[in-house]
Amino acid sequence: MAMSKDYHETYYEHGEDFLKQLPKGVFITVKDNKGRVNTMTIAWGHIGVIWGKPCFIAYVRYSRFTYDVLLNAGDFTINVPAYGTLKKELTLAGTQSGRDIDKFKEAGLTLKDSHKVTSPIINECDLQYECKIIYQQSQEPALIQPSIKERHYKTHDTHIMFFGEIVDSYTTKKGSHS
Ligand SMILES: Cc1cc2nc3c(=O)[nH]c(=O)nc-3n(C[C@H](O)[C@H](O)[C@H](O)COP(=O)(O)O)c2cc1C
Repeated sequence: MAMSKDYHETYYEHGEDFLKQLPKGVFITVKDNKGRVNTMTIAWGHIGVIWGKPCFIAYVRYSRFTYDVLLNAGDFTINVPAYGTLKKELTLAGTQSGRDIDKFKEAGLTLKDSHKVTSPIINECDLQYECKIIYQQSQEPALIQPSIKERHYKTHDTHIMFFGEIVDSYTTKKGSHS
C-alpha cells in the first residue's frame, strides 16, 4: 500500500520557487502567546537541515516589532507570493511597523488558520511553510567581516536567527507554482 508522504519528504518540493522569490521578499507571520499577530517582509534566510530536521532560518533585527512578537511565540509561518507578485504588499510590510499599524488591514492581506502551528498563514500567498521555533542565535559582531559590518551594522542593530523546523509546507493556490 502506498504510504502518504510526510513533510520530511516534501519540504523541498517548491524550493526553487521559494529561493527565486526570496530576494524579492516573502512574509514572516507570527502570532504570540498574548494574541498579537504581525507580519514583515524578509529577504534573507536559509532552507536546509539541522539535527535531522528540515528548517527555515530567518534573520530578524532586534529593532523589529516582529522580534518582540517572536520572543513570545512558539512558531511562525513563511508566506511566499507567486514570483514577482504582491509588490505593494511586500513594500508595506517591509517599511511600516506593526507597532504603528495593522499591516494586514492596510495591505489588504487576509489570514487563515495554519494546519499545525498557532501562527496563521496569508491567504494571498501561494506557498506556505509552517515552522516551529527550535533555536535562536544572536550574531557575534566581532566575527562579522569588517566590510559587511560597516555596510549592514553601523547602528549595531544586528540580527537574531530564528530556526524554524518546517512541520508543514504546501501550496495554497493551484497552478502558480509548478
Ligand atoms: C525586500 C525587503 C526585505 C527585508 N528583509 C528583512 C530581513 O531579512 N530581516 C529583517 O530584520 N528586516 C528585513 N526587512 C525590513 C523589515 O521588513 C522592516 O523593517 C519592517 O518594517 C519591520 O516591521 P515590524 O516592525 O512590524 O517588525 C526587509 C524589508 C524589505 C522591503
